[in-house]
Amino acid sequence: MKAEIAAVLLAAGALAAPSDKAPRKAAAACSSAVTLDASTNVFSKYKLHANSFYRKEVEAAVAAISDSSLKASASKVADVGSFLWLDTIANIAKFDEAVADLPCENILGLVIYDLPGRDCAAKASNGELKYNEISKYKSSYIDPIVAKLKANPNSAFALIIEPDSLPNLVTNADLQTCKDSKSAYEEGVAYALKSLNLPNVVMYIDAGHGGWLGWDANLKPGAEQLAKVYKNAGSPKQVRGIATNIAGWNAWDLSPGEFSTASDAKYNACQNEKLYIQKFGAALKTAGHPNHAIVDTGRNAVTGLREEWGNWCNVDGAGFGVRPTSSTGEELADAFVWGKPGGESDGTSDTGATRYDSFCGKSDAYKPSPEAGEWNQAYFEMLLKNAKPAF
Ligand code: BGC
Repeated sequence: MKAEIAAVLLAAGALAAPSDKAPRKAAAACSSAVTLDASTNVFSKYKLHANSFYRKEVEAAVAAISDSSLKASASKVADVGSFLWLDTIANIAKFDEAVADLPCENILGLVIYDLPGRDCAAKASNGELKYNEISKYKSSYIDPIVAKLKANPNSAFALIIEPDSLPNLVTNADLQTCKDSKSAYEEGVAYALKSLNLPNVVMYIDAGHGGWLGWDANLKPGAEQLAKVYKNAGSPKQVRGIATNIAGWNAWDLSPGEFSTASDAKYNACQNEKLYIQKFGAALKTAGHPNHAIVDTGRNAVTGLREEWGNWCNVDGAGFGVRPTSSTGEELADAFVWGKPGGESDGTSDTGATRYDSFCGKSDAYKPSPEAGEWNQAYFEMLLKNAKPAF
């Protein structure tokens, strides 16, 4: 029975034109195993998929808009490729629906994000696993994801590995929560890299952003921290490099950079993300770590909004940035991607909530905002109105 369905889908897939307007094909329609060559830029061959989860969030948002011209531009956001966050064990279930309509010429972006003691230097995205639950991370989170990727050998996947985790070990090592999490982060990321090292997968390890590991004093330790974990994992060949600016706000090549007039600017030569991936990329190379990058441009259209470079929560006045593309003009930058699904919150502004983080109460943070990951309709509409290029 299953084989018959596959054969019919194969025939339908063969007839459909490979354009966005064609019916989306099921993964079963892709007839041969995918082998991604991580020594090349896979985004020049595959298009980042507009996954069904974000599509549905956007469609619900469109339904809630009454202004007809805003409604029309909002509906276009549903077609933008973005990463799907598997942020809890329960949310691994999102995988099946997302892979079901993946065309053969697209790559599904997934964020691996459930480390023990997650978000050790902040509160907004504290996760479900305690710092000492490394075994559960391996067996109940990573292993099931590996099984799903293996069950879909004909589909291509791009993974962002554990946003903020290793950068926090570099710059927030003095916090008790980060001290507690250190061994689980290092062991967990290495386990993820080793286990997810499959032919149909390409991996990018999170490397913060220019305003984080881009400081002169952080470049070398940052590169060495990533390289240590990568080597502990056995230098997996499907690791292509790093992901930067994930859920971040930095401009790609604004010059002079957004914070270049700050009093401490002389200690940071990475005033935009392009400079950051060049300089951090060089440090990675020295440390023996792959150094190609993908950069989140999902919400970086408007600059000059943050009072401090380190402010990260629901920045008020932000706009959707450049759409995913492999045309970056920089050899080290494989692609601009939408990492953070624009419209999902960075953290709650409810001061009474357990995961309330003071950064979400700062004057440059949009209020009210729901819990991290939850939809904020007003924020979505703001991103849309401020989008560059416009929708
Ligand atoms: C949240 C996750 C969410 C992700 C994408 C993170 O800040 O902690 O729950 O999936 O953002 O919106």
